[in-house]
Amino acid sequence: MAVTPTVSVLIVVIGFTLMILVGSMVPQSSARIPRGRGRGSKWWGIAKVGEPNNLIVNTIRGGANIGNNYLEPAVQAVLRKKQQRLVRENRGVLEAIAKGANEAIVECKHQFKNRRWNCPTKSFWRGKNLFGKIVEKGCRESSFIYAMTSAAVTHSVVRACSEGSIESCTCDYRLHNKYTRVMTPEQNWKWGSCSDNIEFGYKFSRDFVDAGEKAREMRGTMNLHNNEAGRIHVQSLMKRQCKCHGMSGSCTMQTCWMRLPHLREVGNSIKDKFDGASRVQISNAGILRDVGRGGRGRYKFQLKPYNPDHKPPTKKDLVFYEDSPNFCERDPRYGVSGTYGRACNVSSMGVDGCDLMCCGRGYTISVKQVVERCKCTFQWCCQVECKNCTVTRTFYTCK
Ligand SMILES: *[C@@H]1O[C@H](CO)[C@@H](O)[C@H](O)[C@H]1NC(C)=O
Ligand SMILES: *[C@@H]1O[C@H](CO)[C@@H](O)[C@H](O)[C@H]1NC(C)=O
Repeated sequence: MAVTPTVSVLIVVIGFTLMILVGSMVPQSSARIPRGRGRGSKWWGIAKVGEPNNLIVNTIRGGANIGNNYLEPAVQAVLRKKQQRLVRENRGVLEAIAKGANEAIVECKHQFKNRRWNCPTKSFWRGKNLFGKIVEKGCRESSFIYAMTSAAVTHSVVRACSEGSIESCTCDYRLHNKYTRVMTPEQNWKWGSCSDNIEFGYKFSRDFVDAGEKAREMRGTMNLHNNEAGRIHVQSLMKRQCKCHGMSGSCTMQTCWMRLPHLREVGNSIKDKFDGASRVQISNAGILRDVGRGGRGRYKFQLKPYNPDHKPPTKKDLVFYEDSPNFCERDPRYGVSGTYGRACNVSSMGVDGCDLMCCGRGYTISVKQVVERCKCTFQWCCQVECKNCTVTRTFYTCK
């Protein structure tokens, strides 16, 4: 059954017209909203690699007979090529990254425990998203996740450098070399030798965490900004710490060094930026041409405030460009399970209060006997001993 050329041309033309029609029915706005989470977040899976078999311990400590350059397939599966190279070149860093990723999860859950979105995580891994589908949206919650994970890796790598568990880095001795001699009589302190090496941690995190994010996508630009914000928070919370010397604590002389903040401080500081996060859009001035290595032009989005009356985001600000879901009701598209069954605080007017947490659906009250630690005493030396007391507690739970 041969189809004459005229008929087949006609079919092609009809098909083509249909495609154009269907294409034009797609609303403009959805065409403009970039989808997806960017490309750089798979490494979060490192936090869960090895569960439940603890492969990561084998990967990291298996050492001797496995060989220096061996990476467990489960690790390879969540790392891009560049990240694998960085891990191979910096022995001991994988463990620090895994620790950092897990600390980021703990910190995120802590910071959001009283919120409708309480940083739920998934136990699956291998390319799946650890923080669930919410990161598919370019919303505030995603901005926090990116900044926090980036900060935690920076933090963890810096700490590991000071502990001597990464072969390619040590404490930062440069302050010591640089400033010892400029001490003046009124400055009765000098730099001690071992400062936490924020420079190494910052650079490593930038190479590792940012790998794969593309500045020519809106979402990639958002992720890169928030990753950088996380690192800057760690860096700017570095503090000078000093130790006194001299006869019986007279402190005639001090040695000082730069000390890493606790991750909790970093978490608090990033969380402060969450509520005031900057909503951004692509600047009209547009796309800046950034001539990269080899003279090849790369394109970068410039972010500007969505509301022209607002100031442009600073390096420490979190940026986002999409509204968050309200998190009240179940929304499988973003892995939101709603606030059904969540505990709320009946006497709080804030986001943890029953009105806001339960989204006006009301709450149930239940009275339960619980066992708590009580009458704790300090025992010489050095532990705290507690009794178990049975107390009656009232629980408020969202309907
Ligand atoms: C509930 O909220 C009140 C008022 O904000 C606060 O004082 C109290 O500590 C909160 N209770 C709990 C269990 O968080
Ligand atoms: C208190 O309860 C815990 C767990 O239920 C138990 O391990 C512990 O021994 C108890 N302590 C005392 C002092 O009874």
